[in-house]
Amino acid sequence: EKIAEEIAQSTAANAEELEAFRMRFISRKSVIGDIFGQMKNVAPEERKEFGQKVNMLKNAAQDKFKELVEALESASDNSAAEGLDLTLPNIPHELGSVHPITKVRAEINQIFERIGFNISEGPEIEDDWHNFTALNFPPNHPAREMQDTFFLEKDPDIALRTHTSSVQVRVMENQEPPIRTLSPGRVYRNETISARAHCIFHQVEGLYIDKNVSFKDLKDTLYYFAKELFGPDTKIRLRPSYFPFTEPSAELDVSCNICGGKGCNICKYTGWVEIGGCGMVDPNVLEASGIDPDKYTGFAFGMGIERITMLKYRINDLRLFTENDVRFLRQFSSI
Ligand code: PHE
Repeated sequence: EKIAEEIAQSTAANAEELEAFRMRFISRKSVIGDIFGQMKNVAPEERKEFGQKVNMLKNAAQDKFKELVEALESASDNSAAEGLDLTLPNIPHELGSVHPITKVRAEINQIFERIGFNISEGPEIEDDWHNFTALNFPPNHPAREMQDTFFLEKDPDIALRTHTSSVQVRVMENQEPPIRTLSPGRVYRNETISARAHCIFHQVEGLYIDKNVSFKDLKDTLYYFAKELFGPDTKIRLRPSYFPFTEPSAELDVSCNICGGKGCNICKYTGWVEIGGCGMVDPNVLEASGIDPDKYTGFAFGMGIERITMLKYRINDLRLFTENDVRFLRQFSSI
């Protein structure tokens, strides 16, 4: 009984006192253990009652121990909160900003989605067929050679895609016209890194295939796009060019929105900036993807997202996009 009272009145103000309690009442060498040891001296007919009493003591000691542990823990929580001023303002959690390339890519997607284009994506590691052969590249075309393409395997060739036209081949292989698709994505070319070129950059290519698609449709679409992205006063210009997969082909220029056409170093004092290529899909390309060139015609275009972003936000060095300098990236946090 004395021990029961002692247990009930125990307190523990710190870890040492708690340990002392444990040693005295719970450990193998505790007083309760000693009492158990006396069992053999108890008369057999009294053992049952004796055992029950000792067990009650043991349970009381364990319950009390739990109680003391909890009391001690909550006391230490409270003391940690002491001296903490909950009215102080929070340490601000800084949010990152959307990368300008991501931002412009999303904006381009939206402009084309408004006129019925869907978005298609494909692998960055491509085979020769989708990157070159299906796009009517002749066997010894210079773009296949090492100075432009990062080859991963030879015969059969596997390479990092050099343009997202490869995605459009995949769409043509899998869908029936009418096709209106936009393929944004990262592309790779073995080029020397400079203020105007990089070995990794982003493209967005468009493809429209249906009955009676004409060059005028191409021009109207690009004009609509340029005005939506750069503003209503923007003009476009198409200059004759060559691509294996389009005929006729053209380079696409937009009027320089930085100097308003008067001439500056971004447009090299010409008033125009080239942002991509375009043309009518070559019948060989349609045929290679299983589309009947007698029934359908189409146009395609491809643009560099870095170039467009530089023009839109007056950025004069393309390397800034990949350097992750927060002083550059923070400038886009509000747009
Ligand atoms: N694929 C071309 C390039 O990477 C761009 C392009 C696309 C040109 C479609 C014409 C038509 O340069």
